[in-house]
Formats: sequence, structure tokens, C-alpha cells
Amino acid sequence: MDNDTLLTTTRSVRRKLDLGRRVEPELLAECLRIAQQAPMAGSLLESFRWLVVDDQETKTQLAQFIRSGGEKSQAAYGHLVPPRTLASGQHLLAVLERIPAYVMACLPGRPSGDNASSTAFYGSAYPAVWSLQLALRTRGLGSTIVGYHLAEFEAETAHILGIPPEITQVATLAIGYTTTSTFRPATRPPLEQITYHNRWGTTSSLFG
Ligand SMILES: Cc1cc2nc3c(=O)[nH]c(=O)nc-3n(C[C@H](O)[C@H](O)[C@H](O)COP(=O)(O)O)c2cc1C
Repeated sequence: MDNDTLLTTTRSVRRKLDLGRRVEPELLAECLRIAQQAPMAGSLLESFRWLVVDDQETKTQLAQFIRSGGEKSQAAYGHLVPPRTLASGQHLLAVLERIPAYVMACLPGRPSGDNASSTAFYGSAYPAVWSLQLALRTRGLGSTIVGYHLAEFEAETAHILGIPPEITQVATLAIGYTTTSTFRPATRPPLEQITYHNRWGTTSSLFG
């Protein structure tokens, strides 16, 4: 697969995860080693942590908090997302215990609230998360970010996983092999409409 195809067809996979196929820990480790090379605010490079969860009992406990949060979230905000995405999210909630592996990206503390610190904090996790999603894809695995438990159940999730209270769970990926290798670019707004040139609101001359 060429790089542009990888970057444009790596989707959030929920319905096409192979729930019956184990994800080898050594394969996850290989992908995490690649993701470690992602950019990160220098002050956080040493304190970033991954937590891999593939033990069935722990996944079952984790699933109950993701599901509780997810049902509330989908009831409140489901109308704001495309119907296909909502249906896909509902499917995910139904099979949470059977997801082969979860990987959580964690950082110490909380940003102080201003834009610079929030950007540095959360922005330090997501490049690595996306690199992990790309590395997984090139090996036949799919993933999706799940944040449902964070609104009300972050502390409960931390408790079952032994995460200290000062640690922030920034992102969780649900991971499995995919049942298909055919993924396509998604529909996005026309680039011409979302891209300004030199001044906010100007039509971009980049497109002729
Ligand atoms: C910060 C962030 C949080 C997300 N949270 C969830 C989530 O809680 N549940 C979920 O099913 N997908 C979640 N997603 C995935 C988005 O729904 C998905 O990226 C979007 O629908 C576009 O689909 P695509 O990734 O296939 O292009 C999240 C993505 C990001 C970047």
C-alpha cells in the first residue's frame, strides 16, 4: 500500500473488526514502537504512557464503563453524527467485551486550561495515537478511538485498571484484525470551502 492510500483510507473500524481473532502482543508492541516516534511536546516525552488491555476479565470490566458512557452519549448527541457513524458506534457498544485489545494513551496531570497548555497536552497524545492506527492498518488491523467512558466514568475506569488518580486517560483505541482490507476515502467537506489563503475567510487561490 502506498503512503497516500494508507493516509486516506485508514478509517475508524467498528463493524469490520474480527472479534474472534486474537491480536498478538508482540505485534502490538511492534506498532507501539513505531508510534513512539510521533511528535510530542518536549516536556511530556518522558511521562507519556501506553496501557495495553487484552485480559478478558479486565476488558469485560472496562466494557461496562465504555457502554454506560456510550449509551448516554449516543442518546444525547447521536442526532449530531451521520446515521452510518451512529449505527457503527451502536454496534461497537454491543460488542465491547469481545474487542481483542484496547490501548490507552495516558499523560500525567491535566492542562491548566489555557489554549496553549491544552493544545500541548492533548496534542501530545494524538499524533502517537494516529501513528499507532496507521501502523496497525499496515499489518491488517483496524482501530477506533473510544472516549465514551471519559465523561462520567474516568475515575471508575482508572480504578479497575490501577491507573493513579493524577494520570489522565487521553485516548483509548479499540483494536482488532479487520475482516476486510477494502477501505475507501471518506466523504469530507470540499477542501476549497474549508481552506483560506493568507487571510481568514478569503477564497483560496491555491486552487486556481
Ligand atoms: C478525539 C476523537 C474522539 C473520538 N471518539 C470516538 C468515540 O468515542 N466513539 C467512536 O466510535 N468513535 C470516536 N472517534 C472516531 C470518529 O467518530 C471518527 O474519526 C469519525 O467519525 C470519522 O470517521 P473516520 O475516522 O472513519 O474517517 C473519535 C475520534 C477522535 C479524533
